[in-house]
Amino acid sequence: MTTAKPFDRTDAYLSLSLHASAMKHKHLRDLFRMDSDRGETYVAQGAGLYLDYSKHIIADNTLRLLEQLAEQRQLSEHIAAMFRGDKINSTEDRAVLHVALRAPRDATIMVDGQNVVPEVHAVLDKMSQFAERVRGGEWRGHTGKRIKNIVNIGIGGSDLGPVMAYEALRPFSARDMVFRFVSNVDGSDFAEAVRDLDANETLFIVASKTFTTLETMANANLARQWALATLSDPAAIAKHFVAVSTNEKAVREFGIDPANMFGFWDWVGGRYSMDSAIGLSTMLAIGPAHFRAMLDGFHAMDEHFRTAPYLQNLPVIMGLLTVYYVNFFEVGSIAVLPYDQYLKRFPAYLQQLTMESNGKSVTREGERVGYPTGPVYWGEPGTNGQHSFHQLIHQGTARIPCDFIGFKHTHNPLGEHHAFLLANMLAQAEALAFGKTYEQLRFEGVNEDLIPHRLFDGNRPSSTILADQLTPATLGSLIALYEHSVFTQGVIWGINSFDQWGVELGKVLAKRIIPELQNPAAPLRHDSSTNALIRYLRQA
Ligand code: F6P
Repeated sequence: MTTAKPFDRTDAYLSLSLHASAMKHKHLRDLFRMDSDRGETYVAQGAGLYLDYSKHIIADNTLRLLEQLAEQRQLSEHIAAMFRGDKINSTEDRAVLHVALRAPRDATIMVDGQNVVPEVHAVLDKMSQFAERVRGGEWRGHTGKRIKNIVNIGIGGSDLGPVMAYEALRPFSARDMVFRFVSNVDGSDFAEAVRDLDANETLFIVASKTFTTLETMANANLARQWALATLSDPAAIAKHFVAVSTNEKAVREFGIDPANMFGFWDWVGGRYSMDSAIGLSTMLAIGPAHFRAMLDGFHAMDEHFRTAPYLQNLPVIMGLLTVYYVNFFEVGSIAVLPYDQYLKRFPAYLQQLTMESNGKSVTREGERVGYPTGPVYWGEPGTNGQHSFHQLIHQGTARIPCDFIGFKHTHNPLGEHHAFLLANMLAQAEALAFGKTYEQLRFEGVNEDLIPHRLFDGNRPSSTILADQLTPATLGSLIALYEHSVFTQGVIWGINSFDQWGVELGKVLAKRIIPELQNPAAPLRHDSSTNALIRYLRQA
């Protein structure tokens, strides 16, 4: 790949800066008035998803310039490099191949001269056999009881994806089983997760890519003690604990038989791992066939991303629009608002995916960037958010682009709920875009004094993402959409979206503070604030 000009020195960046200063004076009301087909023009479809991006402060030339930006930043070459298995995670010298996790059995993806696809399918097959045995009651606990409870112990990517997918796919899950997720190194998380469970019927999945993460290891040790308190015999561990990891040595040292370990690879980042063996709890919940349907959904979006032209490419469009707002409209956050209760953990999942990936201040070459990068992603399901923070999105001083996500069909067609739900979603996007003018309020007879308070400026951008129904395949497409949007943003900004050095310092400092909290006599050599806080907490 030839060297591309840095992001803020590309011709497209300079043109976009000028163009955006002009666009800032445009209003969505006028853009829609001038082009009555806008709502049908600025749409794209792929992998079962429909994206309406007409309610963005853009015109045809915005899209042309964004397309040029993608070209000048060599986006397609970077996409090809990722799919080819190049070591694009340069600071860790690793390939980035979550796309291989959902590649069909006959695909070929080479890493270090070896096709990784057969290994991926071997693990999937092993997971499937295990899931069938547990779900079918063949795999029994140490005392012969059927396993009814699954407790996933993991944190970050080893928790957020599994818990999100479990919640999202509950309609497809085994309703006679209980699924719990323990992540925090707060004993309350573990205590509440197991308080009503019978150890004879409980299987723990210790999910950790490294198998060294403090929180997960602490909770896994607690789980072993808890299980043995009932089961007594250490041999019981083999029937009640399985591991998902890349670190076989540490799994063995913990006492889990490697035969009960489901592996993955260093080319799968933690936040990109929910469709690897890290998804074992998901497979236990929904069964192998639905899990594979989810992988097909991921793969369909991968293929769309790899092959569709930039301006018909959903992740590229979403990624470029994010760059447009972050770098030319001073946007600092993006709200993700799923109008589907089953997606209640989707925003939390996206927080790690987006912010651990693009929360970077240096380029891949180690130069400090001179422009903003990753925005804050946050959100809650609608309509709940409407009665909480939407006030700020409608009338606050910050511009917060929103992603609305909705489905044509609900899994629970009760009363008129679904129409109410979708109407609210559409109404929010309409209100944000078009607002309510002074003249409208006067016409309605609103008291002059109240008009400033009741005015809606509008011109607040949003995307609407629709699909037929929230199924395993749709969920896969939706996740891959955001994965590749994050990738697109990272390429444009020239940062490495696949390392996470920013989490290290806190981990090191915590290890130093642990004995200082536990031993009141230990000398304290921190700053005066940390010292005083430790002294206060030591009193416990
Ligand atoms: O601390 C951050 C992190 O490394 C994430 O990237 C990762 O998903 C999480 O911790 C958990 O890591 P592991 O799966 O190795 O326990």
